[in-house]
Amino acid sequence: MVQRKEEVFSSAQKLRVEVVSNTHLKANFYRLTIKTPAYFSKAQPGQFIHIKVGDDFSPLLRRPFSISNVTSFGVDIVYRIVGKGTRFLSELREGEYLDVLGPLGRGFSISREAKIHILVGGGVGVAPLIFLARKIKEETEGKVSILVFLGFKRKEEIICQNQFTGVNLSLHIACEDGSYGYRGLVSQAVEDYLINFTSLSGISIYACGPVEMLRAVARLSFNYAISSQVLMEEIIGCGLGACRGCVVRGVAGYLRVCKEGPVFNIRDIAWS
Ligand SMILES: Cc1cc2nc3c(=O)[nH]c(=O)nc-3n(C[C@H](O)[C@H](O)[C@H](O)COP(=O)(O)OP(=O)(O)OC[C@H]3O[C@@H](n4cnc5c(N)ncnc54)[C@H](O)[C@@H]3O)c2cc1C
Ligand code: FES
Repeated sequence: MVQRKEEVFSSAQKLRVEVVSNTHLKANFYRLTIKTPAYFSKAQPGQFIHIKVGDDFSPLLRRPFSISNVTSFGVDIVYRIVGKGTRFLSELREGEYLDVLGPLGRGFSISREAKIHILVGGGVGVAPLIFLARKIKEETEGKVSILVFLGFKRKEEIICQNQFTGVNLSLHIACEDGSYGYRGLVSQAVEDYLINFTSLSGISIYACGPVEMLRAVARLSFNYAISSQVLMEEIIGCGLGACRGCVVRGVAGYLRVCKEGPVFNIRDIAWS
């Protein structure tokens, strides 16, 4: 598919946005809030913003971050410092400006039929689930159960657990080393929980985290015949569907993470 440059860039506005706050959460995790135009209120959980992380051409590529909340102040992201781009973000101060594209991609679609929504997050993959949990509550007027399972390597890396509160919401934390909550992988914690259900109809799973966690969630979803969506991460170049640098293998051909995703139905991804 060939798209002309003008068409590509008209599909997302390049914005200059002000930093409202940049809060150190713990270890190498931060929350950044930026002031965004009113149309960001239409953003969907799972969509991302594409940030220019430098004042010059290094790093050349923008960096993608899931929207973790939309508030009256603007948009939040939660990020972990892993390299030059995220280090640049961590040094931003209130009142400074950033060059941002977004909201981009396709987010989670909230199942209308489900009575139990299971959100599974691994590491910094918990970020978009904050926004998703809020949206599910709003759209279902609190009439459904939300089970949130968050997985971390160890207790010191637990982030954002206070963001998951409310009636009919239960939070389950798993640490691989057993230092807090369930001992082991979060996908196993979900499976152990599901075993107690007498009927598995009316359940919908939404997952974001490392690809091995997503693979385990996919396996579980196939085994128990539960509909699931996963947020896939890939190196994002243009972020607008033009360069095809972000493809993943789908059952019917390659899929662009930035355009057809980043959220996919597990049945659309070729897992093997
Ligand atoms: C749709 C999507 C949503 C994401 N949401 C979040 C989030 O909410 N919070 C968070 O902390 N991280 C998120 N990430 C990952 C985040 O984009 C990378 O951690 C970040 O780009 C690293 O940049 P860096 O310069 O600090 O690291 P680098 O040292 O450049 O790279 C470290 C690693 O980051 C990844 N990376 C580097 N460049 C890119 C790029 N252009 N696109 C994607 N990944 C890249 C690669 O895996 C690389 O090995 C998301 C990624 C995607 C694709
Ligand atoms: S990053 Fe260019 S097509 Fe997805």
